[in-house]
Amino acid sequence: MDYRAYIAARLPAEGLTEREIAEAIAVPPDPAMGDYALPCFRFAKVMRKAPALIAEELARVYPTDGVIESASAVNGYLNFRVNRRGFAEDTLSRIQREGKEYGSSDMGRGKTVCIDYSSVNIAKPFHIGHLSTTVIGAALYRIFRFLGYRTVGINHLGDYGTQFGKLISAYKHWGNREEVEKGGIHAINDLYVRFNNEATEEMEAEAREYFRLIESGDREANDLFEWFKSLTLAYVKDIYAALDVTFDSYAGERFYTDKMQPIVDELREKGLLKESQGAQIVDLEAYGMPPCLILRSDGASLYATRDLAAAVYRKATYDFDKCLYVVAYQQNLHFKQVFKVLELMGKEWAKDLVHVAYGMVSLEDGAMSTRKGKVVWLEDVMRRCIEKAREVVSVKNPDLSDKDEVARKVGLGAVVFGALCNNKIKDIVFSYDKALNFDGETSVYVQYTCARASSVLAKAGEKRGMGCEIPALNAQEFELVKALADFPDTVRAAAADYEPSLIARYAVSTAQTFNKFYIDCKILQAETEELRSFRIALTEATLTVLTSALGLLGIGVPEKM
Ligand code: ARG
Repeated sequence: MDYRAYIAARLPAEGLTEREIAEAIAVPPDPAMGDYALPCFRFAKVMRKAPALIAEELARVYPTDGVIESASAVNGYLNFRVNRRGFAEDTLSRIQREGKEYGSSDMGRGKTVCIDYSSVNIAKPFHIGHLSTTVIGAALYRIFRFLGYRTVGINHLGDYGTQFGKLISAYKHWGNREEVEKGGIHAINDLYVRFNNEATEEMEAEAREYFRLIESGDREANDLFEWFKSLTLAYVKDIYAALDVTFDSYAGERFYTDKMQPIVDELREKGLLKESQGAQIVDLEAYGMPPCLILRSDGASLYATRDLAAAVYRKATYDFDKCLYVVAYQQNLHFKQVFKVLELMGKEWAKDLVHVAYGMVSLEDGAMSTRKGKVVWLEDVMRRCIEKAREVVSVKNPDLSDKDEVARKVGLGAVVFGALCNNKIKDIVFSYDKALNFDGETSVYVQYTCARASSVLAKAGEKRGMGCEIPALNAQEFELVKALADFPDTVRAAAADYEPSLIARYAVSTAQTFNKFYIDCKILQAETEELRSFRIALTEATLTVLTSALGLLGIGVPEKM
């Protein structure tokens, strides 16, 4: 049962819909206040009364029953107490019934969300900067799918631009097939870096010519380009496989080569195109933005031109209800401009485009920081995390049998969690020690909690607490039940705010709540059989929910640790 909806349906308050009331109901941080609370200042305007007075009046008339046992007013809040037994029974039976599906929903049925994430640049390194877009995007993909949306994951490859001309030039001067075949993306990157450091005027001109050759369909130039592209993709696909990240489309910038002209024509027809210093632009001064560049003076298209074509193509192909762009905040202006131009073109769906901006990730470890031509490759970060995970896991449990598998889950989990456990817009500094701290607010802490729950359940054997009588709940038990009951709302909120960190924080706090319960309450040695089965059921439900929460983030859960 949805307790918020239950309360809202019985609340005789004017001015807000039941749904708005339900959404306004929160869980007070201090459980002494109540189990749920409705802030009444929301009604003050419509009801023309002070919030405190409204809360008092509502408390007087609220029809308490066997589900909600009391309603009381405190400082403009209406606080509710639930019937603990009923609440626990309800929550646990739902988790038992729904299992892995608990927290999912069909709210998205019939709706499509396109998510543009990772969107790596061909022939450039997949470095730590791409970590956030990859893991935040992939988490949003899983979250929306869990809520019943059709999701389309798009890797808008950066496979268009002068860098390929440079690369071909560098390859012709300094490279050879064998070396590049062997070194893959690293060899390609070395060539690119060398070009940027050493290229002469002549080579720059040559690079422009090679780029033109790619554009005009020259066979050799295109073969080289495709080769560089396939080497890059082979490399990133290994990373995606390790992080369990998938895409439905790899239509990159190049894909839009023949789809830009219609956009340019439409802009012209609609009188939006203006010439400025030989270039074609859309003037956005009226909106306080610099102009959006559509065509350079030599007729070449730009990043924005391709994004305009991509948005139109996605709308036509997927008929999305929302199209998300998980891209660093450095591109705020770019997306504001692109969205505005589409709006000016009369695309009413421009309002459904969302730039999901995120902050920078850097490494605490100075020795690996970015220097000119020296980038921090994501694969190195991943490898180091797995190694370190192996160490900490071995110290904690020297007899562990499948150490490699556990180290992998723990190490990669730490990489993923590190990139999405904070509010996404914050710049973050990744620290290996902090990310792999068993006692911190970390994925390994949550994974360890799961392993602890698994071990309790293994010891409990056959006697799982299904269909047990619910005893009178103590504070720790009740807090845990409340945390578990909050999972579906947390998932919905994460989708509504495009904020997977809500689920990450939820997982940590629920793990903390479980550990309080675990330490304070005897589970297998409980005083009565009834209590024992109830606590086992609670442990099992916690494991189910934490596994789902981490799963949505892309983090696996080892059975033993
Ligand atoms: N490849 C770009 C970069 O690394 C990101 C592309 C984001 N997506 C887009 N539709 N513009 O900066």
